[in-house]
Amino acid sequence: MLGFAERPRRGLRSPFPVTGPAGQARTIDDVKLPTDHPNPLVRRLFSFWAPTTQSMRGWAMASVVVNAGIAVTGAGVRVTGSGLGCPTWPRCTPDSFIPVPHPEVSIFNMLIEFGNRLVTFLVLAVGAACVIAAWRMAPRRRSLVRLALLQPAGVVVQALWGGLVVNTMLNPFTVGMHFLISAGLIAACWMLYARAGEGDGPVRRVAHRDIRRLGHVLLAAVFALLVAGVVVTGTGPHSGDAMASRFDLDIEAVARVHADVAYVVVGLTFALLFALHVSDSTRAARRAALALFAVELLQGVIGYTQYFLAVPAALVLLHVLGSTLVWIFTLRVVTSLRTREPAPSPAPSPTEAPATV
Ligand code: HEM
Repeated sequence: MLGFAERPRRGLRSPFPVTGPAGQARTIDDVKLPTDHPNPLVRRLFSFWAPTTQSMRGWAMASVVVNAGIAVTGAGVRVTGSGLGCPTWPRCTPDSFIPVPHPEVSIFNMLIEFGNRLVTFLVLAVGAACVIAAWRMAPRRRSLVRLALLQPAGVVVQALWGGLVVNTMLNPFTVGMHFLISAGLIAACWMLYARAGEGDGPVRRVAHRDIRRLGHVLLAAVFALLVAGVVVTGTGPHSGDAMASRFDLDIEAVARVHADVAYVVVGLTFALLFALHVSDSTRAARRAALALFAVELLQGVIGYTQYFLAVPAALVLLHVLGSTLVWIFTLRVVTSLRTREPAPSPAPSPTEAPATV
């Protein structure tokens, strides 16, 4: 089948006539394409323009990283008390989109909050690169285009939700939801990464049916753990600003519930690991489960240490990073328990029936 570049162009002359087979340098009217630039960094940066499965996965993984990253920088805003560093939205102050001296807000807090808002544009740029790469993949796969489109859409939702967080003076429910929406976006990015590495055929499980079910139960339990975590945060001292309200709950009780759910998650992961080892399962699935188990134990140690040290800011940041890793590693376990074959090529229609020799 003719690849993207070689397909004869019909109708209007494309503004980007691309000539020459993939191996040779491709030009736009004799200008070298960035995808053929001698500098590997430039080639990588523009690989979304002439995507391969590998570069598509690279961009999907980049989107996992930046979406986890903004969850951590967002927590950085909270633990530095900069939640209202930009007292308005979308402007930073009533008269300016960028930080300017303000009688009631320290420039330190303003720069931190504004810096976090700028990270949004990095996340959006990576999301856009994923959409372009999925669109320009040859052959184009609707499954990847749909998953990729979730990213810019998710960034818009998060930007609007961020406005709600500021306008509700950091209401703990809106702050918690901000984190959970990020978890949803990370899941969409991970699915793009996983799907880019497999076909569009029917799902085939590579572990016993019950192990796969256990994987889904684990995914639900980890999400419940994240929810319990944001409730602890919404009750605890790191509100993001002295003016912000808190959940009217007992901090020790909610932290205990959170820790108990963590025990359930660790128990489920151990059961999954054991089941994978005693059954006919892939090495990838066993390795993914073992890695998850290790990350959970580390996250639990960080969780208790921060709790007994009265939640120092640096440990809270580490705990938020740890929670995004626990979520990503859980998604990795779930997707390692099944695979998808290449989609069966459509049967040739009677008019195309090959001439019998
Ligand atoms: C696998 C294990 C764990 C995961 C995935 C996890 C996840 C989370 C998440 C997502 C948050 C909310 C972060 C935010 O709102 O930005 C959180 C907060 C918190 N977690 Fe955990 N957690 C785990 C284990 C623990 C354990 C064992 C403890 C021990 C008590 C603990 C104590 C806390 C505390 C005190 C907070 C509030 C931090 C703050 O005030 O900002 N966590 N956790």
